Order: sequence, then C-alpha cells, then structure tokens
Amino acid sequence: MIGLIVAYAHGRVIGDKGRIPWRIKGEQRRFRELTTGNVVIMGRRSFDEIGKPLPNRFTIVVSSTAKYEFENCVTVSSVKEALDYAEKFRPGENVYLSGGAGIYKEGLPYAEKLFITEVDLDVEGDTFFPEFDESLYEKTVDEVIDGEIPYSYVTYTKK
Ligand SMILES: NC(=O)c1ccc[n+]([C@@H]2O[C@H](COP(=O)([O-])OP(=O)(O)OC[C@H]3O[C@@H](n4cnc5c(N)ncnc54)[C@H](OP(=O)(O)O)[C@@H]3O)[C@@H](O)[C@H]2O)c1
Repeated sequence: MIGLIVAYAHGRVIGDKGRIPWRIKGEQRRFRELTTGNVVIMGRRSFDEIGKPLPNRFTIVVSSTAKYEFENCVTVSSVKEALDYAEKFRPGENVYLSGGAGIYKEGLPYAEKLFITEVDLDVEGDTFFPEFDESLYEKTVDEVIDGEIPYSYVTYTKK
C-alpha cells in the first residue's frame, strides 16, 4: 500500500520556517502507529528538521544535493525512485509519503490513501499541502479529538 500522511491546518498549512507551526500533545500518534515497521519517504528539509532516521522504520530521503547514510536509511533523487526502491527492497511493507510540499506534490498521484490530520487552527505558514481533487476519493472521518486545538484524523481512499 502506498499512502500519504500529513497534518494540515486551515488553508492546508503544513509548515513555517522549517518547522511545523503547532505543538499538540498526542497529535502525532497516528503517524507513529501507521509508519512503525514500515517505510517513510521524506524530503531533505523534513529529514534535516528531525536530524536522524526515526526509530523502528525505514527512511528514504529524497534529495539531489545530500547523501545520508545511516542504518535503515537511504537517499534517492526522486519520489519515483523512492517508490521503486521500496517496492524492490522493502517488499510487504507499507510506504508513507511524509512530506514536505514537493514530496506530496510528486507523490499524490501514486497514493492510494491519504491519511490526513485536519488541525482546526488558523496559523501563519510558508509551506502548504497541494490542492487536490477531493471528488477522486472517498472520505472517512476516523476520529475527532477535542482540546485547546481540536483535530481530526481523516482518510481519503482513492475511488
Ligand atoms: N505538517 C506535516 O505533516 C508536515 C510533514 C512534513 C514536513 N512538514 C513541514 O514542511 C516543511 C518542509 O517541507 P519543504 O517542502 O520545505 O521541504 P521538504 O520537502 O522536506 O524538502 C525539500 C527538499 O527535498 C528534496 N525534494 C523534495 N521534493 C522532491 C522531489 N519531488 N524530487 C526531488 N527532490 C525533492 C529537495 O532536496 P535537495 O534540495 O537536496 O535536492 C528539496 O529541496 C517544514 O516546515 C516541515 O516542518 C510538515
């Protein structure tokens, strides 16, 4: 399964100045649960933000300028190459396109499922999830979490 996983606020804001512009305790639970034991594909800046591969999963970094070599981590130069790598060398594992904007844009056509955390927040940002045609997908709301900043886990499945 090729999935895409993202959290966005109003206006599909995903980032600001190299960071995620909100901090909500527990919000990344679904990311952790889905990606553990599987493959994440991320852009060079997102990888730099974390600074090292996430534990208990395989990381494919997309970059044409850097070459990261760690245990459970390789670097390739396009999303297509990352998907080909996962298919060949990580068979049977789910693949999650994990951002940022360029990865989502190139990866969107390949994703069978979009795991989106809709964060109910107006916030300034400089990085956005691309516009996409919602009519191509079936949308389910899996969980609504109340709190100071409410958020919902939703899934879009390609029809
Ligand atoms: N809210 C969320 O769910 C979420 C998820 C991830 C990231 N973020 C946020 O998004 C921001 C980072 O995203 P970003 O878009 O600025 O950067 P990014 O996608 O993480 O990294 C950009 C770099 O990745 C490489 N790259 C990306 N797409 C590529 C493609 N299709 N083909 C080849 N190379 C590609 C290029 O590296 P080279 O320049 O080395 O060639 C590019 O400069 C941060 O603010 C981060 O916190 C939010």
